Amino acid sequence: MFDTGRIEFFDKVGTPFWFYDMDILRETVGQVVAMSEKYGVKAHYAVKANVERRILEYISSCGLGADCVSGNEVARALECGFSPEDIVFAGVGKTDREIYDALKAGIGMFNCESLQEIFIINAMASRLGLRARVSVRINPDIDAHTHAYITTGTCENKFGISPHEFDALVDLLGKCANVDFMGLHFHIGSQITDVEPVYSLECERAGQIVSWFESRGLEVKNINLGGGLGVDYDDPDGCPVPDFRNWFRIISEKLVRRPGQQVHVEPGRSIVAQCASLISRVLFVKVGETRNFLILDAGMNDLIRPALYGAYHKIENLSACLRPNLPQSQVYDVVGPVCESSDVWGSGRLLPLSVRGDLMAIRSAGAYGQVMSSRYNLKDFAPAVYSDDMHGARLRTEYF
Ligand code: LLP
Repeated sequence: MFDTGRIEFFDKVGTPFWFYDMDILRETVGQVVAMSEKYGVKAHYAVKANVERRILEYISSCGLGADCVSGNEVARALECGFSPEDIVFAGVGKTDREIYDALKAGIGMFNCESLQEIFIINAMASRLGLRARVSVRINPDIDAHTHAYITTGTCENKFGISPHEFDALVDLLGKCANVDFMGLHFHIGSQITDVEPVYSLECERAGQIVSWFESRGLEVKNINLGGGLGVDYDDPDGCPVPDFRNWFRIISEKLVRRPGQQVHVEPGRSIVAQCASLISRVLFVKVGETRNFLILDAGMNDLIRPALYGAYHKIENLSACLRPNLPQSQVYDVVGPVCESSDVWGSGRLLPLSVRGDLMAIRSAGAYGQVMSSRYNLKDFAPAVYSDDMHGARLRTEYF
């Protein structure tokens, strides 16, 4: 990802910043589009993973839909070129205002997560004299074998409607005159790497649930098979594009599909994770009692995943690549500047001998990175720099 030209360019930009490699994004989205076409599966990009306008505009221009979880995400998706009918609106806690705006905008579908939500959407649609297209999120009770915080489809999670409410749901849908029932939505978690057997199980379970609803006289026109394909955080250069081929193939082979039924997926992380790195500098090198610390100018306020989930991100010393002789290695605890002990990029990382001012890349940072950043400790938000306009980027020269 980083040739000499790029590293020399980074040297002139104020750190920290997010570097977006648009070639990787194009290659990744290209694969998703190709597989969607091959298998007749509609992909909605999960906007929550990254809401940068440049990213959204590119994804919408390739024909993907948008999966949104707030009124502001719906508004951003519309601004960035997604057409209303290509937008689905999910989430357990939609406010009245968000429902109202989405109805007025004519979005493609609400993915509803409770009976009360369907009732309210129906009431609001009837007051507005509109029809609401509603898909129902079902909790399939499947363990996605991923981090507890990003598992969504077991019976202990807050998401979706569970089987004990299915009869009441069918009754309610029969009474909601302003709701068009569109289908079923499943989601079991994020960063799923055990594609087999997890997706096979989800397809099998989804098939059983679809049949149950059909036996109650409801036509299931859409099946949304959520569950985010994982990316390779260990080897971003070896695997810059996730194995979409295998994912789409398994879904197509394992899901029993009736004629005319539309299948949807909603990838977020797998589309944007590998296209970005957080570029930072070593502020200080500190020799501790038992450890050597590299203190960077980027911290958990920029990218919270390591502190929040114990997530692994590969760290590279870019400046060391430019040194003439092969550098010596050293084990470091790489940390951020924030006043929290959990502000650690990685403990015990073997890196080239590093010095103050070295440029460091924290890899695979495109998903749930910039979008989850905060101004904790009143730090500034790190800006985005795009590979496409490296030469036009505004440079900050006051660093040294
Ligand atoms: N659809 C629904 C209903 C979801 O809940 C999610 C993610 C997605 C789609 C997108 O999943 P993806 O393809 O990105 O795996 N902040 C966490 C991830 C939270 C994911 C929440 N839901 C992280 O940094 O790992």
